[in-house]
Amino acid sequence: MTGMLETNVPSYPFGNDGLDPLLPHFAENGDGVGQVRLPTGQLAFLFTRHDHIRELLRSPDFSSDFTRPGFPLIRPLAEDMPRPDGSLIRMDPPEHTKFRRLLTPEFMIKNMRPLEPLIRQTVVDAIERLRAAGQPADLVEHFALPVPSMVICHLLGVPYADHDYFQECSRTLLAWKTPPEQARAAIEDLRAYLAGLVDKRMREPGDDLISRLATERLATGELTVDELVGLSTLLLIAGHETTSNMLGLSTMVLLQHPDQLRQLRERPELVDDTVEELLRYLTIVRTGLTRVAVNDTVVGGHALKAGDGVIALLSAANRDSDVFREGEEFDLHRGSHQHMAFGFGIHQCIGQPLARAELRIALGELFTRLPALALAVDPADVEYRDAVVFGVQRLPVTW
Ligand code: HEM
Repeated sequence: MTGMLETNVPSYPFGNDGLDPLLPHFAENGDGVGQVRLPTGQLAFLFTRHDHIRELLRSPDFSSDFTRPGFPLIRPLAEDMPRPDGSLIRMDPPEHTKFRRLLTPEFMIKNMRPLEPLIRQTVVDAIERLRAAGQPADLVEHFALPVPSMVICHLLGVPYADHDYFQECSRTLLAWKTPPEQARAAIEDLRAYLAGLVDKRMREPGDDLISRLATERLATGELTVDELVGLSTLLLIAGHETTSNMLGLSTMVLLQHPDQLRQLRERPELVDDTVEELLRYLTIVRTGLTRVAVNDTVVGGHALKAGDGVIALLSAANRDSDVFREGEEFDLHRGSHQHMAFGFGIHQCIGQPLARAELRIALGELFTRLPALALAVDPADVEYRDAVVFGVQRLPVTW
C-alpha cells in the first residue's frame, strides 16, 4: 500500500476492556485504513469502514487460509501447525464452496424452526436451575453457557455430559494468554474426542448432524473422516462460544438500558430488532476477520500487494457513522439490519439462523420470567474475557 509509514504503528489486537471497542488513532490517511503490528511482529492493514470491509470480504483476491505466506496471525501459531482438515472457516473456493454446500441445508431457517420448542425448553430449564442456585448467581455459569452448549450438542449429537471437557478445551483455545503449544494440544485433544464420536456415530447413527454426515457423505466420498472431524470441531466451538458470550453481554447491556428494556417487556415483538441491535452494538468477533491478499488488488482505493495481510475490523464497521447514526449508542429502534456481526461474503456465519433463534428465545424468556432481574455487581467491576471472542467472565445477578 502506498504512502504508509512504519513509525508509531499501534500494536494489535487493541484489547477487550469494556463495551466500547478500543480504536486508537491509527488511520494515517484519514480514510479509516491503517497499519498495525501483530504479536508476531508482522505488519497488517486494518480496515475500519463499512463500505471498505464489504468490498474486502466479497473480493476473490483474499484468502482465509492461515498457512499462506503473509497471513496476518493475531496469535503466533505452534511450530508446523497444519491447516486442520474440514475447517470451513479457513478454506478458499472451490474447496470452501463444496463444504459449505454440505452444511447449508442443515442451518436453513426452515430447518431451525422445528428446533425452537427444544431451545425454549432448554432455556426454561436453565432459568429454573438459576433460581435453584440461590441469589446472587452467575448468569454465565447457569444460563449463558449451558443453553447454547446444550442446543449445539443436541444438533451435532455430542453428549452434553461431556460439556466440562469441551468447554475447557474451547476456553483454552480462544484465550489470548494460551501459549501456542498449549493451544495446539487443546485443538488436537478436541479433535481426538470428536474422532471417537464420529467413529461411534458411523457404527450407531442417531438423528443428528454428525450421524447424517457420517452415514450419507462418508460413503459417497464427499467427505473424509478427518474432514468430518474438522467440521464437527469447528461447529462445536463456534456453536457454543459465540452465542454464550452474546447472552451474557446482552443481558448486561439491557440491564444498563432500563428504559429500552421496559419497552421490550411491554412489546415482546421488539425482540427481533433488539437482537439485531445487540449483535451490532456488541460485535463479539472484535478482533475482526483476517485475510491475506493473493493477488495485487485495490480495496476502497487502497492498493495492496499479493502477500499483504489485512484485518476487517467488524466492530468499527458496525459503528461507522456513515451507516449508523450515533453508532456508539445502543438503540433498539435504529434498524440495524446492515450490521456485519456475522461477517459478510462467502464465509458469512452459517449458524446465524440458529444464533438468532437462541438469542430471541433466551432473552425473551429470561426477562419475562425474571421481572426483577438485576446486576449484583457494579458494572464497572464486571470482568471481560481476555479471548478471541469478546464476552464477560461472570455476570452475578439477583432476581
Ligand atoms: C451470535 C453468535 C455468532 C456470531 C456473532 C458469529 C460470527 C461469525 C462470523 C463473524 C463469521 C465469519 C468468519 C470469517 O469470515 O472468517 C462466522 C462464521 C462461521 N460461523 Fe458463526 N457466529 C455466531 C454463531 C454461530 C453458531 C451458533 C454456529 C454454529 C452452529 C456458527 C458457525 C459458524 C461457521 C461454521 C462459520 C464458518 C462459515 C464459513 O467459513 O463458510 N456460528 N461466524
